[in-house]
Amino acid sequence: MIPPERIRNFSIIAHIDHGKSTLADRILELTGAVSKREMRAQYLDSMDLERERGITIKATPVRLEYKAKDGQIYRMNLIDTPGHVDFSYEVSRSLACCEGAVLVVDVSQGVEAQTLAHANIAMELGLGLLPVLNKIDLKNADPERACREIEELLGLDTADHVRCSAKEGVGIQDVLESVIRLIPPPKGDRSVPLRALLFDSWFDDFRGVIVVVRVFEGHITPGKTILFMSNQKTYLVEEVGIFAPKPVKADRLDAGDVGYIIAGIREVRDTRVGDTVTEKERPASVPFPGFKALKPMVYAGLYPVDSNDYEDLRDAVEKLRLNDSSFTYEPENSVALGFGFRCGFLGLLHMDVVRERLEREFGLSAEGSLICTAPTPLFEVMKTDGEILRVDNPKKMPDESQIELVQEPIVLATIHVPTPYVGAVLQLCESVRGVQKELKYPTPDRAMVLYDLPLNEIMADFFDRLKSVSKGYASLDYEFKEFQEAEMVKVDMLLNGEPVDALSFIVHKRRAYDEGRDIAERLRKLIPRQQYEVAIQAAIGGKIIARENVKPFRKDVTAKLYGGDITRKMKVLKKQKEGKKRMKMVGRVEVPQEAFLALLRKGQA
Ligand code: GTP
Repeated sequence: MIPPERIRNFSIIAHIDHGKSTLADRILELTGAVSKREMRAQYLDSMDLERERGITIKATPVRLEYKAKDGQIYRMNLIDTPGHVDFSYEVSRSLACCEGAVLVVDVSQGVEAQTLAHANIAMELGLGLLPVLNKIDLKNADPERACREIEELLGLDTADHVRCSAKEGVGIQDVLESVIRLIPPPKGDRSVPLRALLFDSWFDDFRGVIVVVRVFEGHITPGKTILFMSNQKTYLVEEVGIFAPKPVKADRLDAGDVGYIIAGIREVRDTRVGDTVTEKERPASVPFPGFKALKPMVYAGLYPVDSNDYEDLRDAVEKLRLNDSSFTYEPENSVALGFGFRCGFLGLLHMDVVRERLEREFGLSAEGSLICTAPTPLFEVMKTDGEILRVDNPKKMPDESQIELVQEPIVLATIHVPTPYVGAVLQLCESVRGVQKELKYPTPDRAMVLYDLPLNEIMADFFDRLKSVSKGYASLDYEFKEFQEAEMVKVDMLLNGEPVDALSFIVHKRRAYDEGRDIAERLRKLIPRQQYEVAIQAAIGGKIIARENVKPFRKDVTAKLYGGDITRKMKVLKKQKEGKKRMKMVGRVEVPQEAFLALLRKGQA
């Protein structure tokens, strides 16, 4: 048995694309956990989607055995963490399971927004941080500059940093040796009551829920009854094991270990990330700090393009929910789009990931078979009668006369950008009602800008605009800060006086006019002429703020069929009728479903 002094629990943190997964792959190879033959790029990113998009969505732990230069065998538990802002709570819980983290910085890029965000979480948790400069093989590598940025922005000493090229497999051993030298071994008594931190869980069709934990105190063995402290649920442990990287059954998990528990649990929602697992007979007295029940921040309607897919979509969202407890849904229907679901997500990436997973993993035929309405953050509305509403859907916005005030979510955004683009980035942030909090230059050629930004503005096309004004060089990270009062209004789009529910949106008063006019114009181009004039209007309450007209036009498809036999005419009329099947009626106006789709797809990947 390996004594605790020879165990290291560590994680790799990095900004997207700085080489976290490549470094993990090299470590897996070097320690022989995965043979060259089994190795496929980004081994730990197991979801198809993760590998294709090159992002890590779930935390994956793996136990490695490493023979160090001192001749001893060390057990290294490497915990891969998700790399995106939507998942910062999961990142914080995975990091809480470690004694230290390897901070990977791409030497050609330097410190970016997520480097800072993750490093800050790690430092708040009191973790040891080992700076690793990756991609030293690149011609434009500038290790000195990267070190200066790490010292300046993170206040981290770089005297002990390691240089490596994960791609070429250079310096990987140095990384592991430094982990052993600089990251402390786990402490914790194996004989006291069990205290384990749950940092991931998923549903397996055969085994039920698999719970992944780091044991801090005590131990777990099959046959013991465990207790989840947040909801007081108890389960009999059937099996415990470790990931090497494939799951391997074990006799027990001890203080310092990372592994899985199978205990006949049916619902992922009962196993919350950040919860404390203890024993029923001998419960621990205090849970781990930092537990949060995750709440969605972004909402949108998901509808099948073809209404025949509705049942499949329902099955798919139910199944997905089994595996993703931060995703919520409830049935919804819309005049324009038919039956669908109102769904809640942690953020925009989570929304994209869910949409893609629904389309791929749950057999919802072709890509593009789902349509997503414009995402809305959660607003808090205080009514004149004192009632407080949480509005996650423009439909739920009360009438203007009943609103005392609306509060919108504000995020604190951190943007890292090369100096030549600072002006353009500041201008962009100001244009979306941003309030500057800080601007500093850690090195003469790079700036870090902090802004309070309304989440509603980020949802639109902020990322794209940020990338375009900085030629792709700016990186962004944000965290929820608070709700603030704002002059938000609901804009309805009307066709001959009838509101089109799927197109309503909530926007700041200042932008209502421009956005209403923009959608009205686009609708005019998309709605075919009808037998009577169609008025397209954008309205706030009873007040019309924009108007477009579609001129009347009677399309007589039989006009050119002079003479001939009546059956020919009938055939053509029948064809015209079939074409209308995909038309939706909004009041008396016929709108091709494609018009809604075209409007809603704008801005979607
Ligand atoms: P996320 O999973 O999204 O957080 O990204 P990541 O940090 O895991 O980055 P990943 O390992 O996927 O690497 C990103 C890109 O950088 C890939 O194209 C790698 O081939 C490349 N890369 C990684 N390490 C090196 C290196 O040492 N040198 C060079 N030249 N390229 C590297």
